[in-house]
Amino acid sequence: MNRKDYRPATLLVHQGKDRDPATGAATVPIYQASTYHHEGGTAGEYDYARSGNPSREQVEEAIALLEGGTRGFAYASGMTAIGSVLALLESGDHLVASADLYGGSWRFITGVLPQQGISCSLVDTTDTDAVKSAITPRTRALFLETPSNPLFQITDLRAMVEIARQHGLITILDNTFMTPLLQRPLDLGIDITIHSATKFLGGHSDILAGLVAVNDKDLGKRLKYFQNAFGAVLSPFDSFLLSRGIKTLQVRLDAGQRSAGELARRLTEHPAVGRVWYPGLDNFKGRQLHFSQASGAGAVVSFELREEQQVKELLGNVKLPIIAPSLGGVETILTHCWSMSHGAIPAEDKIRQGISKRLLRLSVGLEDIEDLWEDLEIGLS
Ligand SMILES: Cc1ncc(COP(=O)(O)O)c(C=O)c1O
Repeated sequence: MNRKDYRPATLLVHQGKDRDPATGAATVPIYQASTYHHEGGTAGEYDYARSGNPSREQVEEAIALLEGGTRGFAYASGMTAIGSVLALLESGDHLVASADLYGGSWRFITGVLPQQGISCSLVDTTDTDAVKSAITPRTRALFLETPSNPLFQITDLRAMVEIARQHGLITILDNTFMTPLLQRPLDLGIDITIHSATKFLGGHSDILAGLVAVNDKDLGKRLKYFQNAFGAVLSPFDSFLLSRGIKTLQVRLDAGQRSAGELARRLTEHPAVGRVWYPGLDNFKGRQLHFSQASGAGAVVSFELREEQQVKELLGNVKLPIIAPSLGGVETILTHCWSMSHGAIPAEDKIRQGISKRLLRLSVGLEDIEDLWEDLEIGLS
């Protein structure tokens, strides 16, 4: 069977190389070396670790396989992955991006890109006409998140690809929330898929990592050139931990998603909760569209409490979730979006986007769901 034909759970376990080619060891070791001997003065397969390292290549091959791409890249963080992909743009270019974005992406796009002479329009990408109207003769790329973070807005990826093809734009999707197991953007025609592998792919809240996959050979070459030139690569040790995390993604995601669906349903019925966002709920606004391009609802739920005071009480009383700005770990993570994940966004922009101080994001981990619910109920009562 061709490697590419294996089903996702098999690919996760066997990844790029399922054993160390040099020794047959069951895992690809941590090749902790900055440079490589040039036998007789001639470089072998590897010459210097910024350009290539077997531990890093393991996760680069893994993400390419999982996303159905031809090439993968591993970076020191999700933001480095995003910055490295956006380095494809040049001074004078224009970018159209989803308005509802992870706060760090928002900061990079609105704070760093303009300094490099790259302008950006943040638009509601759930509105296809708004995207079309935002395109100018200088527009070079679309930067998307679906489901968006934290309000689970669903962008029609097929429609975005069609618009991009009409205007010769590169399509970039942050696929962190879904992972390649639930959403495979390259199959839908998206050019570049990005992950904060710090989240579900790593899965244990112990590394920062970013992954990128592409299909197009030329894009792959340009990203490789920049990765080597800029050098913000994932370290061998973090590559090893990421490879280890990826192996269990399917079972972790299945379990987290199962519990998230049930907790989302229970939260909708709780008197302290005003609104719940989760693609798996029957009345979720973008449900049909989401399930036309993704195979699951994921393990993250956002919910808004009725009173601001209740936020303090909830954060002060829950015992199980770590209260932090992250997601996708084995432990449940509760985020106050206003002050944590979206703290970089000015208050008036957050309000305009619909992010209130009463909004919380719950990344559901692997704890027993009844323990989680009892804990949340105490916090909410
Ligand atoms: C959707 C999304 N994209 C990108 C990032 C940035 O990734 P990192 O923190 O690994 O730099 C995050 C971090 O929270 C995220 O949630």
